[in-house]
Amino acid sequence: MSEDQKPVKFFEPPVYLSEADIATRVRELAQRINETYGDQEITAICTLKGSVVFYSDLLRHLKMPVVCEFLGVSSYGNHTESTGEVKVTLDLNEPLTGRHVLIVEDIVDTGLTLSYLISYLKVKNPASLRTAALLFKPEALKSPELRIDYIGFEIPNRFVVGYGLDYAEKFRGLPYIGTLN
Ligand code: IMP
Repeated sequence: MSEDQKPVKFFEPPVYLSEADIATRVRELAQRINETYGDQEITAICTLKGSVVFYSDLLRHLKMPVVCEFLGVSSYGNHTESTGEVKVTLDLNEPLTGRHVLIVEDIVDTGLTLSYLISYLKVKNPASLRTAALLFKPEALKSPELRIDYIGFEIPNRFVVGYGLDYAEKFRGLPYIGTLN
């Protein structure tokens, strides 16, 4: 085999949270969400792109009727530092008036994105608004008033990838969460 035919070996970030750890915790979060809402129909909002894997796993453990909505938000560009700027790149399809709304976020770092989303969605007059985040970095938080109702894992202030999370659009498809230096 010539040099240019050899498969490229991509960098595999070291495992921080395994597939099994994540699956167990996602089931636990779904159980708490099921207990909160009972049979009440909810609108679950997936914040694109990072939450897509968490969202689809969580969704499959929810027992109440769920209307799925997708909201494109961009806060990072290709950097590992928060810019504080939040841009809505894809808007919701349906009105939220009178709906029980659950925002599903991949990770809360400074909290600026989720704080922005809460104010963005509150003015749409939902009956209730709750938040779920798979990962939370308490040391990085810049919005102390932020309330996260369901937290998967509290993690140190390190950059993580995989399970939907990217660095410069890479690593989203890793089945586990790994760390980048
Ligand atoms: P925040 O506004 O600083 O809370 O950042 C939220 C967004 O930044 C998340 O939805 C992610 O898209 C991105 N982000 C923050 N920390 C990380 C990380 O460790 N890995 C990948 N993306 C991250």
